[in-house]
Amino acid sequence: MSANAAEWNTRHRAAAQKPPAEPASIVLEWLPLLPEGPALDLACGTGRHSLLLAARGQSVLAVDYSATALEILENRARMEKIPATRGAPGEFTKLRAGRIHLLEADLENLELPENSFALILCLQYLKRSLFAPMGRALQPGGMLLFETFTRAQLNYSGPRNPAYLLERGELRAGFPGLHVLFYRELNAGQGIASLVAQKPRKKR
Ligand SMILES: C[S@@+](CC[C@H](N)C(=O)[O-])C[C@H]1O[C@@H](n2cnc3c(N)ncnc32)[C@H](O)[C@@H]1O
Repeated sequence: MSANAAEWNTRHRAAAQKPPAEPASIVLEWLPLLPEGPALDLACGTGRHSLLLAARGQSVLAVDYSATALEILENRARMEKIPATRGAPGEFTKLRAGRIHLLEADLENLELPENSFALILCLQYLKRSLFAPMGRALQPGGMLLFETFTRAQLNYSGPRNPAYLLERGELRAGFPGLHVLFYRELNAGQGIASLVAQKPRKKR
């Protein structure tokens, strides 16, 4: 286990003492418009979004390198009577509706399967080298919902490492192959950028 994963285990263990975090408001706002096919929740943490998607009957591949986060997610799923199973990367193709597939993996090394997901969520996680693979992993017509911190966050408390902070306009420009449906940067209480984008459907 990497030192960072161990650190996240500690953070998730501490956070589990408090009530679970609500889903991000952008996910709630867009939920009725998001595709209901197979979803990928990148760096899912304790699964506030995976649970929401699975509760509406969607299959979700929930990926995180924190074993503690996935354990908490598994317990929360059990309490909400949502089936959740551990998976291996090779099982990407066998996602079942209404089920959360938990994958403990380091996103630095994980190869995303192409044209496989109707929806990709990436919230509060930034790995720039994943932008292109994320675009390729979407099915034609599939949607990406991405929200994370920008450099404006330096005005507030929270992440400080520039490696994890978007530049102004960076997220909007980060997916040239996708059609932008919504883009917003906020510098009010927190510095975040939010993107909803869609992969073009194949021409007939
Ligand atoms: C701030 S939390 C966000 C969790 C979730 N997306 C949410 O919005 O609730 C960031 C998550 O990224 C995970 N993470 C960080 N680096 C990772 C990596 N290289 N591979 C897999 N997961 C990673 C951490 O374990 C943590 O659960």
